[in-house]
Amino acid sequence: MKNVLIRGASGNSTLLIGERIQNLKKYIPAGKVVVITDTNVHRLYQKNFPSCNVITIGTGEKIKNLDTVQYIYDKLMGLEVERSSFIVGIGGGIVCDITGFVASTYLRGLRFGFVSTTLLSQVDASVGGKNGVNFGGYKNIIGVFNQPELVICDLNLLGTLPGKEILCGLAEIVKHAVIGDADLFGYLEKNYKNAFSLDPPVIEKLVYDSVKIKSTIVNRDEKEKGDRRKLNFGHTIGHAIEKTTGIPHGEAISAGMVVATAIAVKRNLLSSEDAIRIKQLLKNLRLPTEIPTDSERLFDALKKDKKREGDNIHFVLPNGIGNAIVKQISIKEIENVLSVA
Ligand SMILES: NC(=O)c1ccc[n+]([C@@H]2O[C@H](COP(=O)([O-])OP(=O)(O)OC[C@H]3O[C@@H](n4cnc5c(N)ncnc54)[C@H](O)[C@@H]3O)[C@@H](O)[C@H]2O)c1
Ligand SMILES: [Zn+2]
Repeated sequence: MKNVLIRGASGNSTLLIGERIQNLKKYIPAGKVVVITDTNVHRLYQKNFPSCNVITIGTGEKIKNLDTVQYIYDKLMGLEVERSSFIVGIGGGIVCDITGFVASTYLRGLRFGFVSTTLLSQVDASVGGKNGVNFGGYKNIIGVFNQPELVICDLNLLGTLPGKEILCGLAEIVKHAVIGDADLFGYLEKNYKNAFSLDPPVIEKLVYDSVKIKSTIVNRDEKEKGDRRKLNFGHTIGHAIEKTTGIPHGEAISAGMVVATAIAVKRNLLSSEDAIRIKQLLKNLRLPTEIPTDSERLFDALKKDKKREGDNIHFVLPNGIGNAIVKQISIKEIENVLSVA
C-alpha cells in the first residue's frame, strides 16, 4: 500500500492506494457512520461494507442532480445524523461527487471519505476535493471544494468493472502522463497490454503515479486559478464532443487530446514525432483518435463552453511530453485545426 497526501484549505486528504475495502473500519471514527453507494456497487460489494446504515442511489449521470441530493438529505434526517457523524461514499465518480457535496453541506459540513471503486474515480474523481452535481444542462456547476479526509483506492474492486469503464480511467491516466510525467508515458507505451488486463503491479503503478501527478498539481493550486487548469488537457474539445455525440467521457477526451496535440505542434511546442507517440498510445489503448462528429456541430458546442472568456478559451497545450502550458487561444485557431482534422 502507498499513501499520498493532499493539503487542502479545508483540511488534509490521505489517499491509500492498494488498501482494501475490508479495512475501512480501521480508518473511520467510532460514532455514527453512514455509507452512500449506488445499486451496482451495493449488489457487488455490500458484503464488504462496515456494519452501518447504507443509503443507495441509482446510477448514471442523469441522477447526479439536486433531486438525488435532496433524497439523501431526507434519509440523513431520518437517520438522525449529527455533526459528529461520518459519511463514506463507496462507488465511482458519481457516488463520490454526490457524497462529497452532501457531506459538505448537510449540517454545514460533516466529516467524510471515499472508497473509490472505478479506475476513473481512483485516478481522478476522488482526488482533489471537487464535489458537486449537474444543473441546468451543465455538468458539475453546483458544488464545493472540500477534501475528503480519506480515500481508499482498493485495486481489487476494479476486477468487476466493464471494459468501457476501464478505458475511461486509462484516458485520464494518459492525460496525467502527457501533462506531468514523461516516465509514466514511456511506461504506458511499454505496458499498455498489462494495463487492460489489470495486471496488479502495473495497475498499482498507474493509479499511484496518476494520483501523485494530480495531487501535486492540487497542492499547488487547489481552487483552479492557474496550474490546476492543466488537468483539463483534452477536455475543452472533449466536452464538446461528449455533448454532441454522447460518447463516453474517456473516449471524447481521447479525441480532444489529439486535437490539442495538433495545435501544440502548430505552435512548435511539441514535435510531430511526439504527437505521433501520443496518438499511437491512445490507439493502442483502443481509444478514439479521430473526431467522431462533423466540425460544425462541434464548433457550435465549443462556443457554448461555460469556461469561455469572450472569443478566447483557456486551452491546455502539451509542451513536450510530460509538460503542459495553459494558453488563452482564440476560438478561430481551434476552428482552423478542426476544419482540417
Ligand atoms: N470531482 C472530480 O474532480 C471529478 C473528476 C473526474 C470526473 N468526475 C465525475 O465522475 C463521474 C464519472 O465517474 P465514473 O466514471 O466512476 O462513473 P460512475 O460513478 O457512473 O461509475 C461507472 C459505472 O460503474 C459502476 N461501478 C462502480 N464501481 C464498480 C465496480 N467496482 N465494479 C463494477 N461496476 C462498478 C457504477 O455503478 C456505474 O454504473 C462524472 O460524473 C464526472 O463528472 C469528477
Ligand atoms: Zn475527465
